[in-house]
Amino acid sequence: MYEKGQFGITKGPLLLRVYQNRVALMWETETERACRLYYGRDQKLESYIESTGERVQYKTKKEGVGTIKKTAFIHKVWLEDLEAGQIYNYSIAGPQTRSKVYEFRTVRANTNEARFVVYGDSRTYPENHRKLVELIKNLNVDFVVHKGDLVSRGDSYEQWGPQFFEPLKGLAETMPIYIAKGNHEGNNGNYEKLLIPQGQKNSFGFDYGPVHYFCADNVSRGLRTETQLKLITADAEASKAQWKFAGYHVPSLNFGGHRSAWGHPDALPSLAKAGIDFVLSGHSHQYERFRPIAPPPGTHGSYVTYITTGGGGAPLHDVTPSLYHASAKEVHHFCLFDIKGNKLTMDTIDIDGKIIDHLEIVKTDGRLNKQYLSTAVPMEEIQHHQDLH
Ligand SMILES: [Fe+2]
Ligand SMILES: [Fe+2]
Repeated sequence: MYEKGQFGITKGPLLLRVYQNRVALMWETETERACRLYYGRDQKLESYIESTGERVQYKTKKEGVGTIKKTAFIHKVWLEDLEAGQIYNYSIAGPQTRSKVYEFRTVRANTNEARFVVYGDSRTYPENHRKLVELIKNLNVDFVVHKGDLVSRGDSYEQWGPQFFEPLKGLAETMPIYIAKGNHEGNNGNYEKLLIPQGQKNSFGFDYGPVHYFCADNVSRGLRTETQLKLITADAEASKAQWKFAGYHVPSLNFGGHRSAWGHPDALPSLAKAGIDFVLSGHSHQYERFRPIAPPPGTHGSYVTYITTGGGGAPLHDVTPSLYHASAKEVHHFCLFDIKGNKLTMDTIDIDGKIIDHLEIVKTDGRLNKQYLSTAVPMEEIQHHQDLH
């Protein structure tokens, strides 16, 4: 029933957050009673934290039986007082439960490098998602960012296993998957129960070496666009990181698929004013990188690069390349960022492992290289285009 050396754990383990000194993890069992997560360095699992889990009840279909009621227990823990830049091992044990021994590495204290993957919209076709995960596993990245739409219908609890947790096996136990919630995650609390660690909210930021990354929720019912946009810009303004990233599910600039313009007309000028370098979104199932958008004349904002990376496995949407695009393709893919100090490289890799887009930029004294800036689109022009369509 369970793979060898991994019994009783029905979802995860999955790393929710990894910082220099603390880590958040989750897993699910179907057995009530506490589990212990044992952890330590050098394969010595000397410490443990106990978890009783939060009970969830849901309905699911069983072949030959019909609809049945099921109970599961979601465990979420924080491991505290860790040391920066160290490898830790961990294993989960409980009644009728034992996991393999996994490892993770805490964020290094003094590094000017970061290597990470960004992708989104992996719902509905887990076999596509799995192919991408197999490629990502071999890239030796520090973390993964997901732009949301993890499952077809997040309010149906039984979809989370096959569509999200299963395809991520072999990756999510060892590195954090930072998620911006998608509209398909739903509003009945399943997403938050499974994937938001205690003490945190759906919108959150984190640092890794020269990178600050903010993941924002712009889809949950009842949220105000103005408030969420302020949250994103305030976060960026407060960060001194060399490279500032922001990400949320529904794009502010998007010319294929849903043609979204979240936050229009305030988003583009505010994100530039906040000094953000990259804004990555999903929602439209395609790849789309815009030419950098120049801040309004006479202002000191940044040149922002907008990317729609919604090709994580869901059915593809069409996109027609335009003069505002640096690249636009209807393809399953992910974006691999490699940052070494002031130098940023990005390769976009398709589901067959082929590089389909490549970007190299350098930032000196806070300003991107002239050659890249010479390709910029005036903000007014692209906003006019958004108004027309
Ligand atoms: Fe989507
Ligand atoms: Fe979506």
